[in-house]
Amino acid sequence: MKRVFSGVQPTGNIHLGNYLGALKQFVELQDENECIYCIVDEHAITVPQDPKALREHILDVAALYLAIGIDPKKAIIFVQSDVSEHAELGWVLTCASTTGELFRMTQFKSKSGGKESVGTGLLTYPTLMAADILLYDTDIVPVGNDQKQHIELTRDLAIRVNAKYGKTFVVPDGRFMKAGARVMALDDPTQKMSKSAPNAHSRISLLDDDAKIKKSIMKATTDLDGVIRYDVENKPGISNLLTIYSALSGISIPELEAKYEGKGYGDFKKDLVQVTIEALKPIRERYEEIRHSDELNKILDDGARRAKEIAAPVMKRVRDSFGLGR
Ligand code: AMP
Ligand code: TRP
Repeated sequence: MKRVFSGVQPTGNIHLGNYLGALKQFVELQDENECIYCIVDEHAITVPQDPKALREHILDVAALYLAIGIDPKKAIIFVQSDVSEHAELGWVLTCASTTGELFRMTQFKSKSGGKESVGTGLLTYPTLMAADILLYDTDIVPVGNDQKQHIELTRDLAIRVNAKYGKTFVVPDGRFMKAGARVMALDDPTQKMSKSAPNAHSRISLLDDDAKIKKSIMKATTDLDGVIRYDVENKPGISNLLTIYSALSGISIPELEAKYEGKGYGDFKKDLVQVTIEALKPIRERYEEIRHSDELNKILDDGARRAKEIAAPVMKRVRDSFGLGR
C-alpha cells in the first residue's frame, strides 16, 4: 500500500476547482492506499484570519471531507495544529532551504507582487507544506496543478537532507489530475477559480444552493462564435465549461462536443446547470447532517491521534539525523 497525504486550507468557499482539482481524487485514492487528509490551519494564518471564523472554517472543511465521501474508517482526517510535529519539522526544513529557492516560488511572487513588505509566513509557507508531506513518509501527494512547484521543492528538500544527513525522508511524487486540474473562473476564464475572488459568480462553491449554481453558470463568460468546441487558446470560457461538465459527468470532452454539435450555448449551459446541481446536492445534504454533530469532533480527535503515531517516530528520525537534542 502506498501512503497518500494531502491538505486543504480552511479558508471558506471550497469550490469546484478545489473539488475537481484535488478533493475528488482524495475519495478515489482511499480504497487502495493509506490516506491521510489534513486541514492545514497553520497555512491559513500566513495571511490575517479572524480567529472565530478560522475555527468555523476548520470544521467546515472537515465536514466537507466527509460529505464528499472520505471514509474515516479508511482514511485519517485531522487538523494540522493538533499535531505539533508539523510546526517543528517546518522549522527544520526552513533551515534546510535557501531564500533563493523560496523567493522563486510563483505563488509567493504573485501574493507579494508589488508590495514592499508581506508576512514572512508567505515566504516560508512551502517549507511547512514540505514538512506536512515528509512527516508521514508520503509516497503520493494528490493536488491541483498550481501546487507543482511546491511538490518539486519538497522533493528537492528531501533529496538534499538525505544526501547530507543519510536517508531520513521518503521522496514523494505529486499526482495531478488531468480533467479539472485547473478550473478557471466563470467570469474570467483566464484566471484560476479562487476562494478569494470578490465576485461570488466567478466560482461555484460546493455548498451553493441550486439558484446560485444556475445563476453563476448562466452568467459565465463565453464568446461570440456559438460553437461548442474545446479550444483553450481561442475559446477559454467554453473550454472551461466543457472541462467542468466532463469532470462532473464522466462524459469525455469529444463526446460532449459531438452531443452539442449544432446546439447553442444556452442549451449547453442549461444541461451543465442540471449536471452540477445533481453532483453537488448529495454533498450538501451529507454536509448539513454532519457539520454540527459530535461525530465530527470524535473523528478529528481520532484522526489527530492516529496522525501523531506516524509523525512522532519520523520526527525522532529527523532529530537524530540533524543532531538536535541529546
Ligand atoms: P487551496 O484552495 O489553495 O487550499 O487549494 C486546495 C486544493 O485545491 C489544492 O490542491 C489546489 O491545487 C486545488 N485548487 C485550488 N484552486 C484550484 C482550481 N481553480 N483548479 C484546480 N485545482 C485547484
Ligand atoms: N499548499 C496547499 C494549497 O494551497 C495546501 C497544502 C498544505 C497541502 N500542505 C499540503 C497540499 C500538503 C498537499 C500536501 O492548496
